[in-house]
Amino acid sequence: MARVIDLRSDTVTRPSEGMRQAMARAEVGDDLLGDDPTVKALEERSAELIGKAAGLFVPSGTMGNLVTLLTYCGRGDEAIAGHESHILNHEGMGAAALGGISVRPVKNDARGRIDPAEVASTIRTAWPRTTVVCLENTHNRCGGAAIPAREIADVADAAHAAGVQVHLDGARIFNAAVALETDAKTLVASADTVDFCFSKSLGAPVGSVITGPVEFIERARANRRLLGGAMRQSGIVAAGALYALEHNIDRLADDHANAQRLAAAIAEMPHVTMDPAGTDTNLVFFTLDGVDGTQFRERLAGEGVLCTGTHEQRVRMVCHLDVSREDIDAAIPLIASVLQSLPAAS
Ligand SMILES: Cc1ncc(COP(=O)(O)O)c(C=O)c1O
Repeated sequence: MARVIDLRSDTVTRPSEGMRQAMARAEVGDDLLGDDPTVKALEERSAELIGKAAGLFVPSGTMGNLVTLLTYCGRGDEAIAGHESHILNHEGMGAAALGGISVRPVKNDARGRIDPAEVASTIRTAWPRTTVVCLENTHNRCGGAAIPAREIADVADAAHAAGVQVHLDGARIFNAAVALETDAKTLVASADTVDFCFSKSLGAPVGSVITGPVEFIERARANRRLLGGAMRQSGIVAAGALYALEHNIDRLADDHANAQRLAAAIAEMPHVTMDPAGTDTNLVFFTLDGVDGTQFRERLAGEGVLCTGTHEQRVRMVCHLDVSREDIDAAIPLIASVLQSLPAAS
């Protein structure tokens, strides 16, 4: 059978041989008792790369954001997040369901940016009290846009001026840093806390980390336990994440080049409107007109190319560690021929 080119997400990667070896050799202990040296090393290295004082290893990005919101907010408090943010759209509103926290939307523009003036006018000092503003970089639903440090700092300044702290959901923060040719530390300097994922573009099987001040991370540790996210010999998976930090950051530029190659080819195809956000990083979005989006995905899957979408007509294709330039070159004609073969949508 022909090789399947899986562009559904960068979460589909499988650990490489080198990563598996590192995991197999990991020194472990009981992390809930504070005994796992590999988890400790991962938390320290992550905090160092992000430029914060401490880190906390958590099972997923969703739990990272939830633990963070539980740590910033008491019941009845309010967080602010972009209307296209992952926190508002894809995390089951865990903050509301489990923490009694309301998440109030402000507008994201097509590139995922938030207007600092809107943040300033949305913050409330009481009843409910806003305690945190959440940003996202790269911005998943806004085309994988990489948002520069200056624009993060402008929103952070507006929040800080009102006494409100800033959390950055940096699930793919290293994609942003690589695309903007800066280091992650500089990019997120104005945020108080940052989480990022090992299990996405960095190619590890499991895990995310929250980074921030020592006192915040200690309170977050208690909230991680509350959610059942404290693990035991988690050094096994932390070793995969450490390996990813060492080997898989610089190579993200290859995924971005593949994404640009794919986007440039798709932009020329019939029935396609390219996303106005452009292709900064590894996510390629486009909108279909005149043909049915569900049929497009099904037929393309039949040709061995898998993708998803944020709604029926908006398609998302993701480049990652397990997709080579040859795969992209093989996928392009298949996408074109499926688009040509589809009947006009009624
Ligand atoms: C921006 C962003 N934040 C958070 C998450 C959640 O990560 P996880 O799937 O590990 O829960 C994702 C997942 O795709 C994401 O794209």
